[in-house]
Amino acid sequence: MKNVLVTGGAGFIGSNFIRYFLRVHADVRIVNFDKLTYAGNLENLRDIEGDPRHVFVRGDICARADLEAAFREYTIDTVVHFAAESHVDRSILGAGIFMTTNVLGTQMLLEVAKERGVERFIHVSTDEVYGSLGPEGKFTEATSLHPNSPYAASKASSDLIALAYRHTFGLPVIVTRCSNNYGPYQFPEKLIPLMIANALDDKPLPVYGEGLNVRDWLYVDDHCSAIDAVLLRGEVGAVYNIGGNNEWRNIDVVHLLLKHLAKPESLIRYVKDRPGHDQRYAIDATKISRDLGWRPAHRFEEGIKETVAWYLDHQPWCRRVMTGEYQHYYKEQYEGR
Ligand code: NAD
Ligand code: DAU
Repeated sequence: MKNVLVTGGAGFIGSNFIRYFLRVHADVRIVNFDKLTYAGNLENLRDIEGDPRHVFVRGDICARADLEAAFREYTIDTVVHFAAESHVDRSILGAGIFMTTNVLGTQMLLEVAKERGVERFIHVSTDEVYGSLGPEGKFTEATSLHPNSPYAASKASSDLIALAYRHTFGLPVIVTRCSNNYGPYQFPEKLIPLMIANALDDKPLPVYGEGLNVRDWLYVDDHCSAIDAVLLRGEVGAVYNIGGNNEWRNIDVVHLLLKHLAKPESLIRYVKDRPGHDQRYAIDATKISRDLGWRPAHRFEEGIKETVAWYLDHQPWCRRVMTGEYQHYYKEQYEGR
């Protein structure tokens, strides 16, 4: 592994992954291939700008010519595929781009990787492909797929296409399915950064329904170390669940954030629920810990404290990503809700 194509490397998890990967591997070149949608931001990588092991290529995974040029120019031997439309609420407002990017874009990337030949193709997916849990049980790799939102359905489709490329063409694909991530550089449309950003501005915190839905939170660096373990030691053709055994009700997360920000609970507003809102996610990560020796390194209370501190220190970053398109989206998503 020398020339690693990281798609979506200017987004939240992709940018954290590039930073992590350069920290733990000396002899690599990362080609960060990103379209720079509203969610992609080169500012997320400013601290590694001078690192000669990182090259940025602006391109679209749906565009064969963009992909072929990058594979050829940088003799790519490994792919870590993050690029996607990633926000459930946006997939409810408009599902089309989710199908284009997540389904067709992934198929185009697989096709070019197949033609060029690669040693490893990591398809980064999500626990949302499994659907929703009741109060008991956890998702294992054997749980059947039951995606509920357009986002989740597009990711489930891309998982199956990736595995079909393994089965039919022998492309060395591995699929990972992780639970909810949090940490630095997360776009403030997702629960944790949105609540932090609003609370800092003393704006209402829109909690969907009664705030009783449960998510299983993992610090983004732990997701990155899991992908690294899968890349180095994972079995080709396998699926690996990734999670930290850390379930929280949304309302309890919001209370915790308010405590760290020293802001009043009167900011909380219960608003109309997300249509088709999955009740509970919980990951059984036995396989990756048993077979690859992976363990999360961050406790939630510490990770949240660090995340709040990061957003406090990076308010100019927040302000910049919350202008323009974000304002339009926020109005459409929350006004009159
Ligand atoms: P993000 O929205 O922050 O970043 C997505 C990145 O993909 C952006 O940089 C964007 O510019 C890029 N992109 C979008 N369309 C593209 C295209 N057509 N061509 C090239 N680049 C394109 O997303 P994220 O939260 O960092 O998630 C990354 C991946 O991890 C996604 O595949 C997502 O499904 C998966 N995932 C996310 C979570 C989570 O909690 N955020 C959990 C599990 C899995
Ligand atoms: O589980 C992994 C998935 O986690 C990833 O695949 C997705 O890319 C990622 O966006 C995330 O999906 P969720 O829908 O779980 O994340 P989100 O941050 O949007 O919402 C978390 C919970 O908080 C969910 O129950 C909805 C609720 N919520 C969210 C927002 C944005 C609110 O109550 N209010 C809000 O304003």
